[in-house]
Amino acid sequence: MSIGIIGAGQLGRMMALAGYPLGMRFTFLDKTSDTPGAQVGDIVLGDFTRSDDIRRLAEQVDLLTYDVENVPVEALKSAAGDTPIHPSPALLGIAQDRLTEKQAFAEHGMATAPYRTVDSLVDLRAAIDELGMPAVLKRRQLGYDGRGQRFIRQAGDIESAWEALSGAPLILEGFVDFDREVSLIAVRNRSGEMAFYPLSDNRHEEGILRLSIAPCADRTLQTQAESQIRSLMDAFDYAGVLTVEYFEKGGELIANEMAPRVHNSGHWTIEGAATSQFENHLRGILDLPLGDTSPRGHVAMINCLGQMPALADCIRYPDVHYHDYGKAPRPRRKLGHITAVRPDRASLDSVVDELLAVVRAAEATSAEC
Ligand SMILES: Nc1ncnc2c1ncn2[C@@H]1O[C@H](COP(=O)(O)OP(=O)(O)O)[C@@H](O)[C@H]1O
Ligand SMILES: [Mg+2]
Repeated sequence: MSIGIIGAGQLGRMMALAGYPLGMRFTFLDKTSDTPGAQVGDIVLGDFTRSDDIRRLAEQVDLLTYDVENVPVEALKSAAGDTPIHPSPALLGIAQDRLTEKQAFAEHGMATAPYRTVDSLVDLRAAIDELGMPAVLKRRQLGYDGRGQRFIRQAGDIESAWEALSGAPLILEGFVDFDREVSLIAVRNRSGEMAFYPLSDNRHEEGILRLSIAPCADRTLQTQAESQIRSLMDAFDYAGVLTVEYFEKGGELIANEMAPRVHNSGHWTIEGAATSQFENHLRGILDLPLGDTSPRGHVAMINCLGQMPALADCIRYPDVHYHDYGKAPRPRRKLGHITAVRPDRASLDSVVDELLAVVRAAEATSAEC
C-alpha cells in the first residue's frame, strides 16, 4: 500500500515511521527535500497549494493524506482524481476558518467562546462593546502557534490589534479565563469504528505548546468530549485522527479549535499508549481495525524549541524517549520532543521537572550564541 502525504513535516515523518512496519510505503509532497519527511521517504518536489503538484503525487500513490492544515480544499479535490483523500476534505475546509469551525462546534453541541466576525475597525469597536475586554482578535485563517492573533486588554490596544491583523477576515473572541487547556485525540476508521485517547493537559509558552500530560481528566469530562467528537466524526463520515483543543473552565469544556490530523499534543502516544496516534491514523484511513488507545502509565511530552538538548542528557533516564526531527535550528522552532512514561503521577512530575531543566538549559545556551 502506497500512501501520499501532502507536506513533509515532522507529523508526516512520524506517520511514515509508524507505517513502515505495517508494510506501507510513503511519498511526500513538499517544496524542498530539506524536510523531516524527505529523510524517511520519497519526495515529490512541488507546492501543496497547486493542483498540478498535488496531482503528480496522487498519480503515484493509492491514497492521499496530509500533515498540513492549509491545503486549499478545491485544489485537493480536483487534483486527487480517483485517489481517495482522508481525512475528509469537507471537515478540513471547515477547520480552516475559525468562523465555520465554531459553527460546526455549535451544531454538535460544543460550547465555544462568544465571538463576532470583524471586517472593519467599526466592526471591531462594536464587537468589543458587546463582548467586553479582555478579548482576542484572530485571523480567521492560517493561524498557528499563536501567530495571527492579538490580545486586547484595554481600549488602547484596539487600534494596534486592528493594524497588525487587518487585510484578512478576522474574528473577535471573548477571553476565556480557563483553568487549563486540554485536547482529545480521536480516531475513526472508514467503517465507523472509533477510539479515543485520554484527554491531555497542554501547557503553552508564548503561544507554543511546551508540555502535554496524559491522562489528565476524570471520566465525566472524557465522556463529554468523546460524545461531542463522535457526533462530529460521524456527520462527516470521517476517517483518520481528529484533534479537538478545549479550554476547561469550572469543570466545563469550551471548544477552541480542531485539527483534522495527527497533533502535537498526541505525540506522547508513540511510547505512552498501546497504539500511537500515527499508527491509528493510518489504520483509520486504510479502514483497518483500530488499535488500543490505553495509556501505558502517566505520560509527558516536552517540546524542544530552537535547540535540541544533548541525547545522552535525556535518555539516561529510564523510559524516556528522544525524538529529533532533523530540522535546522531556528529560534522557537519545534525541532523535536521528549517523552517520559512513569507508573504514577508523582514520579512523572519529578522527571518532568528534571527534563524541563535540561531542555531549557540547552535552549538558553543557543539563545546566547
Ligand atoms: N478566547 C481565548 N481566551 C483565552 N485564551 C485564548 C483564547 N484564544 C486563544 N487563547 C490562547 O492562545 C493560544 C493559541 O490560540 P489558538 O486559537 O489555539 O490558535 P493557534 O492556531 O495559534 O493554536 C491558545 O492555546 C490559548 O492559550
Ligand atoms: Mg491552538
